[in-house]
Amino acid sequence: MREILFESKHYSALVFKNETEIAHYAAGIVVNQMKNKPEFLLGLATGSSPVPFYKELIREYQAGNISFAKVNTYNLDEYYPIDPTSPQSFLGFMRENLFDHIDLPEEAIHIPRGNAPDAEEEARRYQRELNRTGGTDIQILGIGSDGHIGFNEPGDAFIYDTHVTGLTRQTIEDNSRFFEDISQVPTKALTMGIGGIMNAKMCILIATGKNKAQAIHDALKCDPTPACQGSVLQFHQNTVFLLDEDAASLL
Ligand code: F6R
Repeated sequence: MREILFESKHYSALVFKNETEIAHYAAGIVVNQMKNKPEFLLGLATGSSPVPFYKELIREYQAGNISFAKVNTYNLDEYYPIDPTSPQSFLGFMRENLFDHIDLPEEAIHIPRGNAPDAEEEARRYQRELNRTGGTDIQILGIGSDGHIGFNEPGDAFIYDTHVTGLTRQTIEDNSRFFEDISQVPTKALTMGIGGIMNAKMCILIATGKNKAQAIHDALKCDPTPACQGSVLQFHQNTVFLLDEDAASLL
């Protein structure tokens, strides 16, 4: 592991050999904290980046090292509209990759509802749920190749609250690998805003592969700008970027 320090900042980047090492390191942080606080509030992300980390959490659960019985989870986002029982929904993804394998109670799963009748109202409802937490203990993040975190897409502003968003062409192309055809990728989503992410006590951002190198460079090396939403993490109190050599190649 190689550490890149940003002088007198609250964030750092750690570079690992591969995604297995990243997953192991991330799980170590989460497991340690969960052991000291069974009522842990865990912010979750979907996508490829956290999957090895979820495998590690499942392994730790199966080994009897942690329980999710008193944990509450808060997912970053969900496509809109989408049937939450469909495997392409983010809820479906989370069930397959984590929830179905651990003792997390059903009522402890928090995620925007892709089938809510009114998207704007659903955004407000989810924001009220987040407000009740006062911030999660750890927020797991990936980053889009366009620099998005959650589905806060590049734009002119950082949006604080949960909101309905259009997905960029880049994001639709990137995520088409989870669908039979690009035309099936929803063009909208409900996403936790930047406020919900920034309220987490700690953020762990996982990025691997060359296609993340530019976004990681912009997030860490440019002045914070809504053109790269991940750059807002420079203002976060405690964020660690866990990268492989490819994702770190422009730093
Ligand atoms: C997913 C999410 C997104 C992803 C990002 C990277 O809940 O919020 O920000 O983290 O699109 O996705 P992957 O890991 O598939 O490259």
